[in-house]
Amino acid sequence: MRLAEEDRLAPRMATLRALAFSVALLFACADARRPSPHLVFVLADDYGWNDVGYHGSEIKTPHLDRLSARGVRLDNYYVQPLCTPSRNQLMTGRYQIHTGMQHEIIWPCQPYCVPLDEKFLPQLLREAGYSTHMVGKWHLGMYKKDCLPTRRGFDSFFGYLTGSEDYFTHHRCVPVPPNNETRCAVDFRDGEEVAKGYDGRYSTHIFTEKAVGIINKHNKEKPLFLYLALQAVHSPLQVPSPYLEPYAFINDTDRRHYAAMVSVMDEAVGNVTQALQESGLWDNTVLVFSTDNGGQTLTGGNNWPLRGRKWSLWEGGVRGVGFVASPLLSRPGTVNTELIHISDWLPTLVALAGGTMNGTKPLDGFNVWDTISKGNPSPRQELLHNIDPLFEDISPCPGRETGLTLAESRGPEPWSRSKFNVSVHAAIRYKNWKLLTGYPGCDHWFPPPRMANTPEVGRTAATLKPVMLFDVKADPEERNEVSEKNPEVVAFLLARLEHYAKTAKPVIYPDDDPKCDPGSGGAWGPWA
Ligand SMILES: *[C@@H]1O[C@H](CO)[C@@H](O)[C@H](O)[C@H]1NC(C)=O
Ligand SMILES: *[C@@H]1O[C@H](CO)[C@@H](O)[C@H](O)[C@H]1NC(C)=O
Ligand SMILES: *[C@@H]1O[C@H](CO)[C@@H](O)[C@H](O)[C@H]1NC(C)=O
Ligand SMILES: *[C@@H]1O[C@H](CO)[C@@H](O)[C@H](O)[C@H]1NC(C)=O
Ligand SMILES: *[C@@H]1O[C@H](CO)[C@@H](O)[C@H](O)[C@H]1NC(C)=O
Repeated sequence: MRLAEEDRLAPRMATLRALAFSVALLFACADARRPSPHLVFVLADDYGWNDVGYHGSEIKTPHLDRLSARGVRLDNYYVQPLCTPSRNQLMTGRYQIHTGMQHEIIWPCQPYCVPLDEKFLPQLLREAGYSTHMVGKWHLGMYKKDCLPTRRGFDSFFGYLTGSEDYFTHHRCVPVPPNNETRCAVDFRDGEEVAKGYDGRYSTHIFTEKAVGIINKHNKEKPLFLYLALQAVHSPLQVPSPYLEPYAFINDTDRRHYAAMVSVMDEAVGNVTQALQESGLWDNTVLVFSTDNGGQTLTGGNNWPLRGRKWSLWEGGVRGVGFVASPLLSRPGTVNTELIHISDWLPTLVALAGGTMNGTKPLDGFNVWDTISKGNPSPRQELLHNIDPLFEDISPCPGRETGLTLAESRGPEPWSRSKFNVSVHAAIRYKNWKLLTGYPGCDHWFPPPRMANTPEVGRTAATLKPVMLFDVKADPEERNEVSEKNPEVVAFLLARLEHYAKTAKPVIYPDDDPKCDPGSGGAWGPWA
């Protein structure tokens, strides 16, 4: 009986085996031409070095910790010190000096945006066959319709156009010229239309819901690019009260609120990852998490033990929290110490997508996928942090309340003969070396409030010089200035700055336009 049964089954088994073989073959072929991966980029706003659990923060980030532990944590990863510049470099793969946007951010009434002849990441991904969606903060200009995300490569956009606003009302208040009267108006859009019906709902919840909706609705035949640019954890310090409960132990009110905002963001990343897994997209997804700049210590953020903060070229302003999580990584569970910069994502993601650089201008970024995935040496040896001839520090800095001007030296120092104007705010990195010129911005080491009375903190108030050199590999806290001991390195890096300065476009930074005023009952948005 058993034999007979097996005999009868034998031909069917053969057929099944043949079928299994062809299925395996099919998979093998599919694997050789693996469909383009889904790309999910989560950008946090003003999220500091000392604000993630895995850097030892008192703030709890279980989702970020777990996800990054199974991915690759980027430990030598750099962003720009401000919102618009980082987003600009992410979208173009080019340094700010090459788009004319080396100065500050786009304020709501300024009539400009990233030049329209710059090709954006979502445009390239769309040409590579991707569906492209954006949720969250734009901040790359909106004075005319051609500047909007939906005109720059995104199939859909849900979010806000300026740099900050109320998390619940989605209103932004701005002094409007010529009389500088404060105008408060909504900045919230679905596509190009004003989004209505969201008053009172917390933006991190709304944006998570929109991102999850996009993932769940996604047609799996097409690769997905989702850019989730969270409002969290930029000021104002607002958060639904239940998230404050675990942080009763933080006495400092700003820090406590900030910590709670981070918790909502951490939950958001957890929900988005879960949606990717449940929808079946995860197995072929590359998820990048990055901050846009260092933490703002004036509003709860912290970069300890790094020096400085948002807006400055010290490590606290530019060394970013970032990681990649993906089943496609060759060496998951590693910490990567290779030099990587936010301008590298464009060439990296477009290469993963199997796309081309059709229509881009000369890139400053590198394809760093093999560096991240396999641990290969980074193709990037050098990094121009910025050159901004108009730099001003607009926020109070302990010990430097009146600001600081470093006079151009005509002394005997080797750099006084440099053709690069060392009064200009600039910084450049080469391998382990970092050279800063001019006033880099607030230079204090800001401890988290709970450490305010510990002895380590006393070592501040350093003397600044127009040219400063640090070995940031040996001295990531920028405590030992070594320019005098390394005159050749200084001369080399000043020559590199001089070279870059020659390639810089003139700064675009127009005066506010009174026509920006949306009037009472209007919304911030294109006016030209
Ligand atoms: C409005 O603000 C600008 C920039 O701060 C300033 O230059 C201008 O004088 C102000 N105008 C008035 C009427 O106060
Ligand atoms: C995450 O999902 C849970 C369960 O649906 C929900 O209660 C929570 O509000 C979500 N969190 C965020 C930040 O959207
Ligand atoms: C190349 O870029 C141009 C300009 O952005 C665009 O019009 C064209 O469709 C692109 N070509 C391909 C093959 O995608
Ligand atoms: C050098 O830069 C400073 C700061 O931007 C500027 O004030 C000064 O005029 C510049 N000097 C020269 C010679 O260009
Ligand atoms: C917080 O405040 C309480 C009450 O003032 C005090 O006992 C405690 O030591 C403070 N904690 C820290 C970490 O400063």
